[in-house]
Amino acid sequence: MSILIKNIKQLLQVHDYNVLIVKGEAMKTLPIIENAYLYIEHDTIIEYGEMKYCEGIEAETIVDATGKIVLPAWCDSHTHIVYAGNRTSEFVDRINGLSYEEIANKGGGILNSAKLLQETSEEDLYEQSIKRLEELIKMGTGAFEIKTGYGLTVDAELKMLRVIKRIKQESLAKITPTLLAAHAIPTEYKSKKDEYVKLITEQLIPQAAKLNIAHYIDVFCEDGYFDIDATEAILKAGAEYKMRPKIHVNQFNILGGVGLGVKHNALSVDHLEELNEDDINALKDTETIPVALPGCSYFLSIPYTPARQVIDAGLPLAIATDYNPGSAPSGNMNFIVSAACVKLKMTPEEAINAATINGAYAMGISNMYGSITRGKKANLIITKPLNDYSEIPYAFAHDPIDQVIINGQLKDIKNPEENFRI
Ligand code: NIG
Ligand code: FE
Repeated sequence: MSILIKNIKQLLQVHDYNVLIVKGEAMKTLPIIENAYLYIEHDTIIEYGEMKYCEGIEAETIVDATGKIVLPAWCDSHTHIVYAGNRTSEFVDRINGLSYEEIANKGGGILNSAKLLQETSEEDLYEQSIKRLEELIKMGTGAFEIKTGYGLTVDAELKMLRVIKRIKQESLAKITPTLLAAHAIPTEYKSKKDEYVKLITEQLIPQAAKLNIAHYIDVFCEDGYFDIDATEAILKAGAEYKMRPKIHVNQFNILGGVGLGVKHNALSVDHLEELNEDDINALKDTETIPVALPGCSYFLSIPYTPARQVIDAGLPLAIATDYNPGSAPSGNMNFIVSAACVKLKMTPEEAINAATINGAYAMGISNMYGSITRGKKANLIITKPLNDYSEIPYAFAHDPIDQVIINGQLKDIKNPEENFRI
């Protein structure tokens, strides 16, 4: 199987050397080749360059990309795609004035999704989830982190892990599973939180580790959920099974979760709608990447992550959807890239860096995904005809995508019969 894409108006995010992350000032640069070609064999990027060097290259499939832009498929490093049903009634409650916190205190929110998930069969959960994922591949995402966290019992969490495993085995997209071991306190443990933390550290984590699916561990470190001590106990338990932290911190309150994440060598600290100088300083010269989730800020009408402060301090930043039924029921990365520009005041170059190479870094896969580099996986977006890549975030809520290549396979996203499974 070989594919040659010719006459590409702009080929974006081209790195001859395998860059793994871009930070600070460097995020302003998006390396591009104008009037380019790209040659793929099987699932791998083999060669690329200016059209004038394309002569003599032959392939089984030729794609004429005249007027179009080619870039790495989006890398969405924070999703909760595996869930059951939805929470539209809470959406209406919020429109009518209730806050996310008030809904949660009434037993809604995450507890609501957990109840539904516990009642849903494994097969049904798989079907609902893979359908969501395939919609998102059509929107240009080629790599997804997927969290558990709506189980809230050992059995239901293991069910979620098995569903994620099946998606990972069957989907053409790259899947990175995360055990969101501590997402909320179930009602029956409200007055005995310590016992629930014990259940997580002594039962859930060891049993999840046996399945050998998730190599990352997550905790919702927040007032009313898991405090710093509980978060640390859970991260330590995860570390015993070589699970690296990727944690929810600073969504509503600053509890010190950023510093804690850095202390435990977290791969990423996500949300950061609230952020202070200490957090910024804690992240400097570390391997922990901050991740902004503008879809959550948009949907809950809470502050946006202060991206300028982060990037101007020389730090890297990734952006992701946080796709989930409660705080961000959309997995559209095109919107996220646009929101990063409009609301986080990131330039198109910074936003595209944050959604490709840095998103890949936040999943620990940037050695193989997130840039146009020889030897990397062919996960690509081919846009509709555009004048310039800045039109991708500029024309917010438009669909810029014409075709995708996932794991080296060219897909017709307009054909409802198209298949995105191995
Ligand atoms: O990332 N903050 C915690 N978890 C999700 C929301 C979960 C929900 O409301 O279902 C988030 O925003
Ligand atoms: Fe989340």
